[in-house]
Amino acid sequence: MAGRIPQAFIDDLLERTDLVELIQRYVPLKKSGSEFAACCPFHSENTPSFYVSPQKQFYHCFGCGAHGTAVSFLMEHENLSFPEAIGQLAEWAGLEVPREPGSVEAEPTAHLIEALEAAARFYVDQLKHSPVAVEYLKGRGIDGNTARDFAIGWAPAGAGTLVRALGERFDTETLIASGLAARRDDGSLRDRFRARILFPIRDRRGRVTGFGGRLIEPGEPKYLNSPESAVFHKSQTIYGLFEARRAETRLGELVVTEGYMDVVGLAQAGFRRAVACMGTALTRGHLDLLFRQVPRLVLCFDGDEAGRRAAWRAMEQALPVVQGMREIRVLFLPEGDDPDSLVRREGLEGWQRRLNAGTVLSETFMRLLAERYPLDTAEGRSQCAHAAVALVNTVNDPLFRGQLCDLVAERTQTPRARIEAMLEQPEAGPRTAAAPPRGGDDSSGGTAPRGRNQLWSALLARVLQLPRADWRDPSILRLVAAGGRAPEILGSILDSIDASPGISTARLLEQFRDASFFPRLMQLASLPLGGEEPELSRRVALDSADRLFREHCRERMRSLSSQTDRPLGQEELEELRRLQALLAQGEGMGNRGE
Ligand code: UTP
Ligand code: MN
Repeated sequence: MAGRIPQAFIDDLLERTDLVELIQRYVPLKKSGSEFAACCPFHSENTPSFYVSPQKQFYHCFGCGAHGTAVSFLMEHENLSFPEAIGQLAEWAGLEVPREPGSVEAEPTAHLIEALEAAARFYVDQLKHSPVAVEYLKGRGIDGNTARDFAIGWAPAGAGTLVRALGERFDTETLIASGLAARRDDGSLRDRFRARILFPIRDRRGRVTGFGGRLIEPGEPKYLNSPESAVFHKSQTIYGLFEARRAETRLGELVVTEGYMDVVGLAQAGFRRAVACMGTALTRGHLDLLFRQVPRLVLCFDGDEAGRRAAWRAMEQALPVVQGMREIRVLFLPEGDDPDSLVRREGLEGWQRRLNAGTVLSETFMRLLAERYPLDTAEGRSQCAHAAVALVNTVNDPLFRGQLCDLVAERTQTPRARIEAMLEQPEAGPRTAAAPPRGGDDSSGGTAPRGRNQLWSALLARVLQLPRADWRDPSILRLVAAGGRAPEILGSILDSIDASPGISTARLLEQFRDASFFPRLMQLASLPLGGEEPELSRRVALDSADRLFREHCRERMRSLSSQTDRPLGQEELEELRRLQALLAQGEGMGNRGE
């Protein structure tokens, strides 16, 4: 295995790369002010909302939220891995990619993928030799082309066919770690999948990371999935995404169904935009992942009680995710049907008709609420309003929030002002309790007071987007010195800027690609600043830093004053006095505290 690619090389490569020129290879760009615009290559649209900034070397789509650097563009648009993207850039720049000496294995999971891919080929081959399996698929209307598109295979009934077939090339540990085999009580190895039709699950790049397998005879469980592994994470995997992206280059919409056969059955009927999450409930992580691909989602649910419950859960996950041009519609299917059975009975047109009749999320929201809290009594209406307010509080998009308020006011016959009075104040920041804490936001590791996340976002977004400005300001330096996770991140960003004067946003970002907070930095780099002048950006950033620092001081004071099990020492008293003085100064001035 080759060693790592040196960071200095990546930095140099980006310095030589022009993002505008690079994107021009794929999409015609038009000058628009100081930036370039185009119809977004990541979703279908008729008016350009995809912008490329030559200065930042960063792109951003206001329609679907796609954003990133030259490296991200190649990874997302061309489905390349990181080393492949670097390789491509190097080729264009006429450079050889150097590797650091010593062999840090580039991808420690590569052998798992190799085993899974070898297994997938083995299973596809087995299908050809199994008339019962082929008959089963034919009976469900699946032909050879569709089977090939989805690489559907057959796991023979024998206990060790796969282990025997792969045993020479892969060791026992690999077969177990990839989930392909399990150890029996007596220590011997046996195939996980037996007598099942197999659906390989592929990641964005088309690499097999797991399988779902269906029995063709009655039995339990009907479907068996690969266990979680180093390469297979159900919460981050969507079945059919690779296939959908491959089938349609400009995906505008994806339809989320419940099962493998729904995805495959719809594709067989010519509808190639369906995906499924594998037997698990739809999470925010899934929604984020899907919205990185398309701006519009349709969620399908059964018409029965279980379907309603699933829809409620999905609505809870979806409300906080809606923003800008993102759109979610919900489709309730007739009881006893799923997309596969519907499309077989009603054909592609019938399916399309049903899809078009799906209801938007806001309507679904009201409909589900009204089912739980009937609106024909005053009690029901007020209960409904209470439940609605709790949900609206989770919405992050201010305009969508407002729209939902209007709806709730109207349907529950409550004055809008009364609904609004019950909502948490937007300037206090939208509630993000439902979301996992995001890296880089939370310096204390506990529950940050509302508003602090926004301040960190305001500050970091500006530092990232204006790396040429002089950020070595006392306001910022003392915040960095305060310590904690977010200040440390800020500190390392400042170090990178100092190390390369004139660095672009993209080069700066690429230094952090391996960090856990990288996705958050990418988001902040694409946060629209409304075309504010650099001087204003600087003031906003420094003001945010001041507020954050004062918040830090207040917290330190609280913890000092709540110290009750022993009297404060001389130094602590001294610190307390200093903090008080600092805060009095800041508050007296109302803004900059120096
Ligand atoms: P369904 O039972 O609704 O099956 O499971 P289906 O998709 O209609 O399949 P067919 O038409 O009977 O073949 C929906 C999804 O739930 C998960 C699978 O991901 C399946 O695709 N599931 C279901 C399991 O993981 N295990 C099971 O035992 C059943
Ligand atoms: Mn079905």
